[in-house]
Formats: sequence, structure tokens, C-alpha cells
Amino acid sequence: MGREWGIWFVFACIWFSSLSFINGDTNAADASALNALYSSLNLSPQLTGWTSIGGDPCGQSWKGITCSDSSVTQINLSGLGLNGTMGYTLSSMTSLIELDLSNNLLGNGSQIPYNLPSSLQRLNLAGNLYNGEIPYSISLMISLEHLNLAHNQLQDSLGDMFAKLTNLSLMDLSFNNFSGDLPQSFSGLSSLKSLFLQNNKFSGQIDVLVDLPLQDLNVANNNFSGSIPDPLKKINNLQTDGNPWSFTPAPPSPPYTPPGRRIKPGQTSGGNSSPAGDSEGEKNSGIGIGGIVGIIASVLVISSILVFFLIRRKRHETSQGNHEEDQHFTSLPSNEVKEMKHIQTSSLVSTNVVQPTTPITLKPPPRQKSFDADDFSTKPVVKVSAPIPIKATVYSVADLQIATESFSIDNLVGEGSVGHVYKAQFSDGKVLAVKKINSSALPNQSSEDFLELVSNVSRLHHPNLTELVGYCSEHGQHLLVYEFHKNGSLHDFLHVSDEYNRPLSWNTRVKIALGTAQALEYLHEVCSPSVVHKNFKSANILLDTELNPHLSDCGLATLIPDPEYQSSENAMGSGYSAPEVAMSGQYTLKSDVYSFGVVMLELITGRKPFDSSRPRSEQALVRWATPQLHDIDALDKMVDPALKGLCPPKSLSRFADVIALCVQPEPEFRPPMSEVVQALVRLVQRANMSKRLSTGDDGQDLQEFTF
Ligand SMILES: *[C@@H]1O[C@H](CO)[C@@H](O)[C@H](O)[C@H]1NC(C)=O
Ligand SMILES: *[C@@H]1O[C@H](CO)[C@@H](O)[C@H](O)[C@H]1NC(C)=O
Ligand SMILES: *[C@@H]1O[C@H](CO)[C@@H](O)[C@H](O)[C@H]1NC(C)=O
Ligand SMILES: *[C@@H]1O[C@H](CO)[C@@H](O)[C@H](O)[C@H]1NC(C)=O
Ligand SMILES: *[C@@H]1O[C@H](CO)[C@@H](O)[C@H](O)[C@H]1NC(C)=O
Ligand SMILES: *[C@@H]1O[C@H](CO)[C@@H](O)[C@H](O)[C@H]1NC(C)=O
Repeated sequence: MGREWGIWFVFACIWFSSLSFINGDTNAADASALNALYSSLNLSPQLTGWTSIGGDPCGQSWKGITCSDSSVTQINLSGLGLNGTMGYTLSSMTSLIELDLSNNLLGNGSQIPYNLPSSLQRLNLAGNLYNGEIPYSISLMISLEHLNLAHNQLQDSLGDMFAKLTNLSLMDLSFNNFSGDLPQSFSGLSSLKSLFLQNNKFSGQIDVLVDLPLQDLNVANNNFSGSIPDPLKKINNLQTDGNPWSFTPAPPSPPYTPPGRRIKPGQTSGGNSSPAGDSEGEKNSGIGIGGIVGIIASVLVISSILVFFLIRRKRHETSQGNHEEDQHFTSLPSNEVKEMKHIQTSSLVSTNVVQPTTPITLKPPPRQKSFDADDFSTKPVVKVSAPIPIKATVYSVADLQIATESFSIDNLVGEGSVGHVYKAQFSDGKVLAVKKINSSALPNQSSEDFLELVSNVSRLHHPNLTELVGYCSEHGQHLLVYEFHKNGSLHDFLHVSDEYNRPLSWNTRVKIALGTAQALEYLHEVCSPSVVHKNFKSANILLDTELNPHLSDCGLATLIPDPEYQSSENAMGSGYSAPEVAMSGQYTLKSDVYSFGVVMLELITGRKPFDSSRPRSEQALVRWATPQLHDIDALDKMVDPALKGLCPPKSLSRFADVIALCVQPEPEFRPPMSEVVQALVRLVQRANMSKRLSTGDDGQDLQEFTF
């Protein structure tokens, strides 16, 4: 009898312990995010009930966790002496409303992670050790009501990220090291009642706060200047001491206040990337010879006429699709619309909107431009009578000067061989990237050539390409205006040390590889004729707030300096050029595929394609890495240490297989981009399948490989 009870007791124990090992009542994604959080918090003994694997946070009432049904809605771990970080998996907690980690020792020299749940209504990280800047993901938390980041070591100017936070009623950024002007988007904080900015180094004026429903405002101990606007003086609880108010550099301030103008290291890419970097143009040794020029010129003239008629026909066919175009206009800053030249406006309105899904037929990619003057005497005949339809906004030099504060060095976000790139902040709050083309990149400063280029680029549309928004061709100046990607380039994410504290996860790396592969596939196989990128590199892959990739500099190949000016050593030195390019200067679709393989190698190893600081045998990434791609043990050692081993071995080896195909020395053996895309899609699908089998998501992955 006693023995039977004993057996039952053992069974019961086994049953209970197995219960505690599965996720019980709690949503699996939430549970595994908390598992990962627990390990990021160094398994603090304060977190009673918590486990780093499995468990049931809601059912077992883990310390500080509140649930609603089976979802975690609140985390309150305030004042528990916790150290470590928040980890990078919290964003999968889609029901989380409140996150209070205040008064701990979190962050210690690292930045607030960017992937916080966008469902948050209250976020309190006050009294920790975070430094760096506020992550841009805050701009997506449209339900946010309370934001408290006081008493950390946050610094730099605030990004212009507040436009959508219309429910925010309390914001406390006091006792940090913030500097710069208050961003323009503060004016959109239409519910803001309490604002605490004291004890920072903010400067500029506070006019942007004038229309907010403030009841408490503390701006004490900063570097604010100008005068306190009258409406603000009526606020009940107002503190303004400790500022040099009267100090006004120029008496009346212009109505336009330039918002935060910091260059953050992550942004440099916006520029590096944008000027078509360092690759070479097509080889054109024979072009100087008069006869050939004549032939090419007449071919060009004839094809321009043909294209002109084709476009006109297309325009007629689609003259009903103009509403879309009008909508596009209404979203533009009104002053820019006004500034548009008449001719271009009309051609713009009548241009066909190219649907991203339909195959696009482009004109032949712009050819080499170094023709004789003879050549140009014939070209204008065609072009003047046939203005090229361009679907892009025309900006004036004056517009762009205001938006970039006269191309001030503070707004410089990148330099390349084609020109400099500036962050441009328009008075309506819109932020764009302006690429100022060097006059040397456009031979003969021909506006016709430039417009042709703009026309071609403006017809490229793909979710993974950086969109051209507008251009400016005035007074001999040539500028391209692009969307701005706040998160900078892949190059900076992988190689700039300031970014060390936000390593890209394996899943994100795969996502970036797949997205850029699709962008190249589009250029190579959807556009007709194909567009060779010629300058594919990690600095030309820009990341948006969700770390989706956007390939930049598409269609700018002709702006790149002639091969003569660039020794083949340089081409080798960048580490991206296929061997046949270094030898012949000939770029092809297959040389793009090679460069794509090199970027995949960067993603997997975290190394630069060419790194002179490494031992000689490891300097050239392709030479060092390719012999090891098929050896699983070697592959493990080669993986970017920043991943801390958090990548599934199967996924890794499939990724390596794709790389090996792309970087083959013989161009004819490299696969077309569509095959690369398919291989990566299969990789992602299999990864998802095995994830589902193990009931996890990101967090589950982490467990699997941490423990
Ligand atoms: C961080 O917290 C863990 C667990 O509480 C503790 O063991 C460790 O010593 C702490 N580290 C530091 C640097 O305080
Ligand atoms: C979190 O817990 C602390 C201490 O237990 C408490 O003071 C604080 O009000 C709580 N935060 C929220 C938002 O409930
Ligand atoms: C913070 O980091 C420093 C140096 O990295 C270390 O000495 C210190 O113990 C850390 N403090 C905490 C609370 O983790
Ligand atoms: C903002 O607050 C209002 C009123 O509380 C609410 O109805 C609305 O859903 C909130 N907006 C968002 C985006 O959460
Ligand atoms: C604040 O920033 C300044 C530079 O702007 C720096 O010199 C200073 O050390 C920072 N202070 C703290 C406490 O981080
Ligand atoms: C304060 O702001 C003025 C301009 O308004 C600037 O010249 C000065 O350098 C700032 N001082 C500090 C300490 O940041």
C-alpha cells in the first residue's frame, strides 16, 4: 500500500516538473522573450520564479509579471538592483503595455535596445546607466502615454521622431546629457501635459513647445536661448532657471527652426552609400575616335527618338492614371511644389506611374558620357524638343540650401567619389538625403545627361531599393534627393565600433541578404534591359527603422569615374570586385553576383572585405574564407563573434553554400540572382519550419543556442 503511494508520488512529481517545463498558460512568444530577458539580466536572484528556459510566467506568477489571459501585459522590475541589458527579443511581446525597469543598473555603457515592443503605453527606464541616444523605434510606439528616461547618461541631440506620438502625455528626459535643439516634431505632441528637460545641455529656442497643452514644464539648467514665448509663461508649473535666455546670436529668429542636426555614426552610410562609390565606369578607350563617336551619336539620336515616341504612346495609354500622381503631389511640401518649373510640372503630371509589380521597361542604361563637343551639337535637337518625363519632385537650389543649412558640415552624412550626401530637414518635418554630385562626375556639366540619368533612376521601384524622391538641376548644380534611412548602412552596423552594442541578429542578417538579393534580382532580371549596379557593397545597403535593407546608388553607374583614374589595385583593394573586373574593368551581371557574395561573407563573418589591420593571410576576406566554407568546424570559428554563437548551424551552412556559389572565380559558374533569391527563401522557410516544431520564435532560438 505504502509502496503504491510512493509510486504515485513519483509520478506526480514527474508530472508537475514536466508541467513547469512547458509554457503552460503563457503565450509561447512571451514566455521565450522573458526567458531571454532573464539571461540578459544575468539570471539575477531577485527574479524569483524566473527560468531561462521554459516555464509559465503567467501561471507561475513570476516576479514583476502581470498577465491578461495568457499574454504578458506588464513588466515591473523597478529597483531590484538588476544589471546586464534588456536583450533584443522584447519586441516579440506584442501585448506588453507597461515596461518599468527603472532604478536598476541596466545598460552600463550601452544603448537602449531599438527593438522594444511597439504596443507600449508606459516605458520607464529612469535611473539606469544607459548612454547613447534614444532608439528610433520609440517613434513607432504610437500608443505611448508615459516616457521616462530620466537619470541616465543619454546624449546627442534628439532625433526628429516624435511626430506620431500624439497620445504622449508625460515625457521626462531630465538629468541626462542631451544636447542640440529641440526637434521640430515636438510640435506634434498634441497630448503632452508634462515635459521635463532639466539638467541637460539642450540649446536653441523653445518656441516649438508653444502650442502644446502643457501643465508642467521644466527646462532648467540647459543652454536655451532666445526668449520664453508668452503662452508658455502662463504654465502653472514652469521652471526655466539656469539658462542664458537673453543670449540670442541673431536678433529675430527665422520662423524656420532647424531641428536636431547631429550626425550619428550610423548615418554616415546614408552618404557613403549614396555617391556611387569607387567602382569604375564602362571601358571606353575607343570612344575618342571621331568615327565611332559619330556612329554612337547617331544610334543615340535614333534611339532617343524611338524612346520618345514609345513614352508618348504609353502616356496616352495611361492618361487616366493621373490621380495617383496628384496624390503624390499633395504629400509634398507645398513650397517645393510651388518651386517646380512649369515645363517639368506638366510633364511630371502626365508621366505614367510605374507599378512596382509589373515588369518595367527602361531605356538602355545611360551610356558613357565622354563624347566630343560635336556629339552634343546634335543631341540637344532631340532633347530640347522632347523633355524627358520624370516622376520626381523638382527642387530649387534655394530649397535645398535651407533644408541643409547651406550644406553645412553638420549635416554631412557621407562622402563618396561622386559627391557628398547631406541630411536635409524640410520645414514640414520631412527628412531626406541630398546627394550633391561633384562637377567632375558629370563631364561637360551637361544638364541633359543629368536629366536622362534622373529619368532612368526615377523609374526604378522596388521595396528594397532606396527611392529617388526628387532632383535639382540649376545654376550648374546637380543634386539627387533620396529618402533618408535613419539607421545608416549595413557597413556601419557591421564595422563601425560605435555600433558594437547593437549587433544584428542572425535572423536580421538573413533578412538583409534576402532583401538585397531581391533588389538585385529586380535590377538584373525584371528591368529590361538589365541594370548592372557596379557598386554593390555594404555601404550601399541602407537600413530602415525595422532593419529592412534598401539598396542605394542604383542606376548611377555612369557617374563613376573612368577606370583610368582608378588603378586596378584600388579595385582589388575594396574587396568587392570580381577577379575579371580587376583584370578587364568589365562589369557584368555576374560581377554584381560576386559582390553580393562578398556582402554575404561580411554578414556571416562580420569582417571587412579587405582589412589591412589583419594578418596577411586574413586580409582579403574572400581568399581567407572560401576554402573554409564547406568545413562545419571552420565555419563555426569564422562566424562573427558579435553573434555570440546565436545562429542555427543548419541555416549557417546553407548560407555558406550560397556564398560559395556566388564568389566563384569563373563568372559563368555564378548563379543568376533569381536562383540566389530562391535558395535564400528556402533557407528562411526551413528555419521557420524548424522553429515552429520547437514552438519558439526568436527567443526560442536564443535558448537553443545559449544553453
Ligand atoms: C550582476 O548581477 C549578477 C546577479 O545579480 C551578479 O552576480 C553580478 O555580480 C552583477 N555584476 C555586477 C558587475 O555588478
Ligand atoms: C513598479 O513597482 C514599484 C515598486 O514595487 C512601484 O513603486 C511602481 O509604482 C511600480 N510601477 C508601476 C508602473 O506600477
Ligand atoms: C560597468 O562596467 C564597468 C566597466 O565595464 C565595470 O567595471 C562595472 O562593474 C560595471 N557595473 C555594473 C553595475 O555592471
Ligand atoms: C490614444 O488615446 C485615445 C484615448 O485614450 C485612444 O482611444 C486611442 O486609441 C489612443 N491611440 C492609440 C494609437 O493608441
Ligand atoms: C556629456 O557630453 C559631453 C560632450 O557633449 C562630454 O564631454 C561629457 O563627458 C558628457 N558627460 C557625461 C556625464 O556623460
Ligand atoms: C550654448 O549655446 C550657444 C548657442 O546658442 C553655443 O554657442 C554654446 O556653445 C552653447 N554652450 C554649451 C556649453 O553648449
